[in-house]
Parts: sequence; structure tokens; C-alpha cells
Amino acid sequence: MKIAVLKEQADGERRVAATPETVKKFIALGATLAVEAGAGETASIADAAYADAGASVADRAAVLAGADIVLGVQGPDPESLAGVAPGAWIVASLNPFGERARVDGYAAAGYEALAMEFMPRITRAQSMDILSSQSNLSGYKAVLDAAAEYGRAFPMMMTAAGTVSAAKAFVMGVGVAGLQAIATARRLGAQVSATDVRSATKEQIQSLGAKPIFVENVAGIEGEGSGGYAGEMSPEYQKAQAELVTAHIAKQDIVITTALIPGRPAPRLISAAQVASMRPGSVIVDLAVEQGGNVEGAVAGEVVMVNGVKIVGHRNVPSRLAADTSALFSRNLFNFLSAFWDKETGKPVLDAEIGDAIRLTKDGKVVNARLLA
Ligand code: NAI
Repeated sequence: MKIAVLKEQADGERRVAATPETVKKFIALGATLAVEAGAGETASIADAAYADAGASVADRAAVLAGADIVLGVQGPDPESLAGVAPGAWIVASLNPFGERARVDGYAAAGYEALAMEFMPRITRAQSMDILSSQSNLSGYKAVLDAAAEYGRAFPMMMTAAGTVSAAKAFVMGVGVAGLQAIATARRLGAQVSATDVRSATKEQIQSLGAKPIFVENVAGIEGEGSGGYAGEMSPEYQKAQAELVTAHIAKQDIVITTALIPGRPAPRLISAAQVASMRPGSVIVDLAVEQGGNVEGAVAGEVVMVNGVKIVGHRNVPSRLAADTSALFSRNLFNFLSAFWDKETGKPVLDAEIGDAIRLTKDGKVVNARLLA
């Protein structure tokens, strides 16, 4: 079983899909590892470290030749996979809805493309869940990015020259990223509040020492869609939520938005009028900017200033902490493949529950129910 680890080609992608640690573990399973030269450079991993771990480090063509499994962070362009035979697995974060043409390309080439972001949210797959591992660090980094853009301090400070008041931070969307954002803002000394549409998050917010801000008394607000994800809310709920947020947001210094709805554009949570109600110097970080944005006026890849309020829209936030996010992503890939490793044949064999959920293409066709729906 030859496993190829590619140098990422997407603009601004600094992560890598294997580390020397996971290379060693794959080799212990009996696999052969080939790593493209320079693959780990932007994640602070030298080629020599992969070689020491037992991988061969070579150019792309040599790495791909005869590969059975190709690992990536983002999906490699099918055109860039010359030398990989039909039947090989492409395992990465494949952005199946956003990159449909690429998925069709994998099918046409006869590859079996496995989208890690479609991993079901079941207990046994938690250690394979790239959305969780990457979102966690995004939530942390969003707060650091906000702090870096903010011209004031986060903690309250009593000094001889007078008191600096604590920043007020508001986290909208309390999934994995939001929870870490709350914890990080608290550690920095901010006064934190948070909101979500899933009522189950209320206790989680409180247990982190933050204040829940919730729409009450509107019918059908449970908000829990399938697999623990949010569903789209009723117009009545959206109106009540907008009123609540309007009153609250005008008093905030820092807002971090993380709200996503799988397979749909991100919900719009903050209007231009609400941005205008914030005091100059405030900072909003929109972690959903690449999925359409939670904040009106946010621009992917830019920090924009609107009436003195900064709206931060960094792309690919996990890549901004590439060493740690690569380590976690790589472990997710290893945990996944090793869980299905068949010792007799020396290769992974997927079961139906996970295989059907993540397999996008097989035998020349697109086979995933979510893409065919
Ligand atoms: P996500 O990234 O899809 O969305 C982020 C948050 O935005 C969610 O909490 C969602 O409820 C919220 N949201 C959506 N629309 C909103 C709106 N209009 N207003 C305010 N908030 C809105 O969610 P993520 O981080 O993937 O987590 C979703 C759930 O899945 C969590 O309960 C998490 O604990 C659970 N989970 C379970 C796993 C497992 O069992 N293996 C693994 C990872 C997460």
C-alpha cells in the first residue's frame, strides 16, 4: 500500500496532510510513504524529518507513481494526479458542494474520492472529524486576530493612571469554533456573551463563564437539525433574533461569528445597520466569510473598515496555525485509515456507515447521496 502525501497547491494553504508522527504510524501498519519535497515547509516540518520517519521524499511525479492512497488537506486537482491509477483513493477535505467539477474529475479518472468533511458525527468517528479539529483552532485564532486588530486591551487593568475597562466580546454561533472562541476570549480577560439557535448550547455557554443571549418565546426555536447541526430558522425566529442582537451588539467591542448551516449559505446574522451601531474601534471577525458570510460588508481575504469598525474576513483560518492544525488533521486521517486497516490484506476496507457517508466517487461515477440529492 503506497500512500502519497502532496504539497498543497491551493493559494495560501500552509497545512500538510501528514506529519513525521503519522508517517511512522502508517509505516508501522505496513504502508510505504512517499512525501512530495517541500510538503511540510509551511507547517514548519522539514523534508529531513519525513525522511527520518521513514518516508521517501521525492518530486511530485515520483510520489504519485503507483500510489494507492493520496492524502491531501484540500482536494488535489484531478489533472495534477498523473501516475495515479484508477481505483486509487483520494482522501482530503474535498469541498464537495463548492468544487463539484473537481468531484466529477475524480469520477472520470476512476478514483475513489473520500471527503473527510462528510465524516458522520458519531462517537466512534470523533477522532476522525476534521471539521472539529480545525474549527477548534479557528475559534482560538479568531479571538487572537480580533485582539490584534483591536486598539484597546481585553482585560480590565487597574493602573496608577486609572482603570482600563474589560472588552465586551460576543460570540455568535456556539459550535466547536464558538466554544473555543468563548474560552479564549475569557482567558484574555474579556467579558463574554454568546448566542446560538440550538438551545443545548445555553448550558455550554454558562459552563464556560459566559452569558447566554437567547431568543425566548418564539415557537419552533429548538434549532437542532440532523447530526447535531443547525437547521434554517423560521422568518419569525429570524426577526426576533435580529431584534435581540440589535440591542446587544451596540454595546459590544468584539464580535466573533461562526454560524454555519451544512450545505447552505451561512446565515446572515449582522446587518450593515447593526455594524454602524457599534462604537468606532470595535472589531468583528467573520469566520463564515468563505461560506457567504454572517456579517454584511465582510469581504473574504480582507480586513475592511466601516465607520470605524473593522470587519475581519481572513480566508482559511486553520491555515494560519498550520503547524498545529496540520498535526491534528494528519491524526484525523491516520485515525480514520487505521481504524479500517485490514491486517490480512494490508489495506483499509471501509464499512457502510462511514464509507457511504464520505465516498463521493467510485467506478467512474458520483455515488454520494448528498451530491445526487
Ligand atoms: P457548525 O460549524 O455547523 O455551525 C456553528 C454554529 O453555528 C452551530 O452551533 C450552529 O448551531 C450555529 N448556528 C447556525 N445558524 C445560526 C443562527 N442563525 N444563529 C446563531 N447560531 C447559528 O457547527 P459545529 O461546530 O460543527 O458543531 C455543531 C454541533 O455538532 C455541536 O453541537 C457539536 O458539539 C457537535 N459535534 C459533534 C461531534 C460528534 O459527535 N462526533 C463532532 C463535532 C461536533
